Amino acid sequence: MVSIMAVLPLVVAPDPRLKKKAQSVERVDDTIRKQMDDMLETMYAENGLGLAAPQVGISNRVIVMDIARRDEEPIIFKMANPEVIWESPELKSYEEGCLSVPEHYADVERPARIKLRYLDYENEIREIEADDVLAVCVQHEIDHLNGILFIDHLSALKRNIIARKLVKAKKAAAEPAAV
Ligand code: NI
Repeated sequence: MVSIMAVLPLVVAPDPRLKKKAQSVERVDDTIRKQMDDMLETMYAENGLGLAAPQVGISNRVIVMDIARRDEEPIIFKMANPEVIWESPELKSYEEGCLSVPEHYADVERPARIKLRYLDYENEIREIEADDVLAVCVQHEIDHLNGILFIDHLSALKRNIIARKLVKAKKAAAEPAAV
């Protein structure tokens, strides 16, 4: 099958589509595989580490990630219905950013290690353990599937400052450029 990958338009906060809980997929079929491929293409085009379906306006439980460093071979994950089935009591803080929250970064504390269950690209059930960047990334992306952004983990004060700036940035982008 010849499949042309496409870069999808990104949903940027504030947007009600980022606040919605996404629906599970029934199975990973050709339609979902195409969505995963397009999402990965979009993620690369935007220089992201991970991407969740609601970020491209699709309300289903699909995420993609490439956690490799710039000089490494890709380490790609394409997951449907990812679910944390165990989390470590130890927490770890990591500076997070998000393609839907452009130009803002903040430390977020999450369980350092997790066990994860998901459907892979071949519709097989997988269980893996994740730590380090993968653990951070997966938890961040699963949050998206539940309508949660990383800024929702911050104090109300910090969150409100960023939220106000996002509204301003969106207004500025919508205004016609001055000639
Ligand atoms: Ni994100």
